[in-house]
Amino acid sequence: MPDDRLSPDRILELAGEAVQQIESCSDPAELDSFRVKYLGKKGELTLLLKSLGTLDPADRPKVGQAVNKAKKQVEKSVAEARERIEQEAAERARAEQKVDITLPGRRRMRGSLHPLTQILEEIVSIWETMGFVWEDGPEVETDWYNFKALNFPEDHPARDMQQTFFVDGSSRRTDVLLRTHTSPVQIRVMERQKPPVRMLCPGWVYRYDAIDPTHYPMFSQVEGLLVDKDVTFGDLKGMLNEFLHKLFGPETKTRFRPSFFPFTEPSVEVDISCFACGGEGVLAGRNCRVCQGSGWKEILGAGMVDPALYENTGYDPESVSGFAFGMGIERIAMFRYAVDDIRLFFEGDLRFLRQF
Ligand code: PHE
Repeated sequence: MPDDRLSPDRILELAGEAVQQIESCSDPAELDSFRVKYLGKKGELTLLLKSLGTLDPADRPKVGQAVNKAKKQVEKSVAEARERIEQEAAERARAEQKVDITLPGRRRMRGSLHPLTQILEEIVSIWETMGFVWEDGPEVETDWYNFKALNFPEDHPARDMQQTFFVDGSSRRTDVLLRTHTSPVQIRVMERQKPPVRMLCPGWVYRYDAIDPTHYPMFSQVEGLLVDKDVTFGDLKGMLNEFLHKLFGPETKTRFRPSFFPFTEPSVEVDISCFACGGEGVLAGRNCRVCQGSGWKEILGAGMVDPALYENTGYDPESVSGFAFGMGIERIAMFRYAVDDIRLFFEGDLRFLRQF
């Protein structure tokens, strides 16, 4: 007598039960356990197929057909249930979404660096190739660092060239002020560091100039200082030329004019050939408006460090020498980008800023 489990009716009944269970199943793991239960290596239908050999050969075909039919039914219902469960999951996910994914996307506004920051980074990276290291100093300074230690005597007219904000809010001279240039950092660095020095100091400076297209009470400078043994004016010229050619292009001509700063001796102002007219002074048959026909633009101040600064900071003036330079970043940015009004840098007008 054949095993009752191997009767075709019983097999199709089993398949019917399996299909029912599978159809009511709503979870992928549960579905998989049913698949294994019936179709897996040791699944019920698989075992039935394997036990066909125990049957009377005459019964085998009928039973074999029944098992194969049952397998097909169960396989089909597993596939259908899998698809249904996936769809249900997707629908659930869609229903849980707080945003309407069919709406067009919002364009993300991309920021960019402020033009002054871009120029500053360029300047810093050029000096870094020559071994200069970024240093910082305070914007609220004392008279000592901003003036006295830099060799500005108490009542020297050079002080009047730097319209100073005093921190008590009056125009009365007080000891605490907003730095009028980045040169005080020369003193601070020499105080805290032994020679040799190669430093670069970018930062805000303040002067109570009336606002106009080329003046603003707050602007930024980059200071440089190199102190070592046997530094000459030739080193100053060579490095500044290298810097200006890298910043403004190798075709740029430079001119060193004698000047005066209390903290450098000798002092120079450095001009570059006008970028607009190429140094001709004439543009389209007219006086060049950028350089007023001179062919030159003043770009920075520099000089050999005055020995008085070494005395003020504890360096030995007999054994070291060096040079310093300072430049206005807005001024350089105005040249580079042909911007004719310094106020544009501070107004935050996106129509202006987006162009950089
Ligand atoms: N501090 C000077 C200024 O603000 C610039 C300068 C710096 C000149 C260093 C010489 C050396 O005008």
